Amino acid sequence: MQNVEDMEFKVFQDRLMEASGLDLSCYKEKQVQRRLSAALAKSGHTSLNEYWRTLQKDSAMLNELVDFLTINVSNFFRNVERFNDLQTKILPELLATRKTLRIWSAGCSAGQEPYSIAIILKELTPLTRHYILGTDVNKTVLQIAEDGVYTEDDVKEVKPSLLSKYFIKQEDRFILCPSVRQMVEYKAHNLLSDPYDTDFDLIVCRNVMIYFTEEAKSKVFKGFYESLSPGGVLFIGGTETLMSAPLYGFQLILPFFYRKV
Ligand SMILES: C[S@@+](CC[C@H](N)C(=O)[O-])C[C@H]1O[C@@H](n2cnc3c(N)ncnc32)[C@H](O)[C@@H]1O
Repeated sequence: MQNVEDMEFKVFQDRLMEASGLDLSCYKEKQVQRRLSAALAKSGHTSLNEYWRTLQKDSAMLNELVDFLTINVSNFFRNVERFNDLQTKILPELLATRKTLRIWSAGCSAGQEPYSIAIILKELTPLTRHYILGTDVNKTVLQIAEDGVYTEDDVKEVKPSLLSKYFIKQEDRFILCPSVRQMVEYKAHNLLSDPYDTDFDLIVCRNVMIYFTEEAKSKVFKGFYESLSPGGVLFIGGTETLMSAPLYGFQLILPFFYRKV
């Protein structure tokens, strides 16, 4: 792996921001430098300046780098016990006071997360039309989300009964049925620079902020607070904690679930 010089890194960071809108200064620096070094080594270039000259001329390569830096690993019902809590406790509680729900999956990757929620809602309230928004900064993954075609690895945590009910297996692919696909709207959205929609009853943002600096995280938490309806719930990832939840106006209601108070 090659070493990324500090000065060169800062210049590269600015150029990338200008060309792609991805602001690496909001992500943990060590992590970014590690991934960038790996990308540089793989590209065969010997310096970031040289690498940049190629990226400037090759938009596919630039997109590939953005994909690599934004890390989009996901799967349906990731950390299944949390989704059980969502299905048996959080959603029934929200549905007790609201007929229809507005839900935002922020940093939704290729749709595995918002579609898992859509499947749960189909099971809980088959006749009700809810609104689910899936957003991500990475347009490549959003296209996969729109297509709704997944691998065996993506669906490894889906219960067999749900897998046969909502997916069609074609060779080694799992095609999500249209009735679930049409429950989710996808939009490109950068949590660090775009305005947030409002009135959500549930915001799910998991395994996205782990890569953000403390300052960036704080900005996002404040934004989520504003975006939630009174009593709305924020659902975060299995390795994350919301330090100083009360400071942001959140109350822990179950591990990884916070209510706006
Ligand atoms: C590891 S995936 C998590 C996917 C899903 N939430 C889950 O937990 O399985 C992180 C996602 O966050 C997205 N992401 C990274 N920075 C972002 C930003 N500034 N705004 C919106 N999405 C971002 C990435 O593109 C990626 O798809």
